[in-house]
Amino acid sequence: MLGRLNHVALAVPDLAAAIATYRNTLSAEVSEPQALPEHGVTVVFVNVGNTKIELLEPLGQGSPITAFLEKNPSGGMHHLCYEVDDILAARDALKAAGARVLGDGNPRIGAHGKPVLFLHPKDLFGTLTELEQS
Ligand code: CO
Repeated sequence: MLGRLNHVALAVPDLAAAIATYRNTLSAEVSEPQALPEHGVTVVFVNVGNTKIELLEPLGQGSPITAFLEKNPSGGMHHLCYEVDDILAARDALKAAGARVLGDGNPRIGAHGKPVLFLHPKDLFGTLTELEQS
């Protein structure tokens, strides 16, 4: 079922500062910020060759990463994203195995314009896990 590691996401309290660190200190290639109001975040992607690092900053009221940043004020690893060939088949197999799909259980369009869904961290060893249709 699992394909490539599409990205590792870090929640950050100040996206501009995080972009500056990745661009200037780490000499990394960083995309332009993309606001995703339906996901409550602004994102950039850092290209590291074999995968990407997604940097997330809260956007708007009730962002799903606000509570995470309250617990981790300097930021932290927020989720992993794996590619899957068939997101609905993957969802159904995981649900049948007892994993909880967040939200209404249906994929939503993610930052790459492809369907994504999130699995409850308690069902995957304390790690929020995103699946993205490849
Ligand atoms: Co992600």
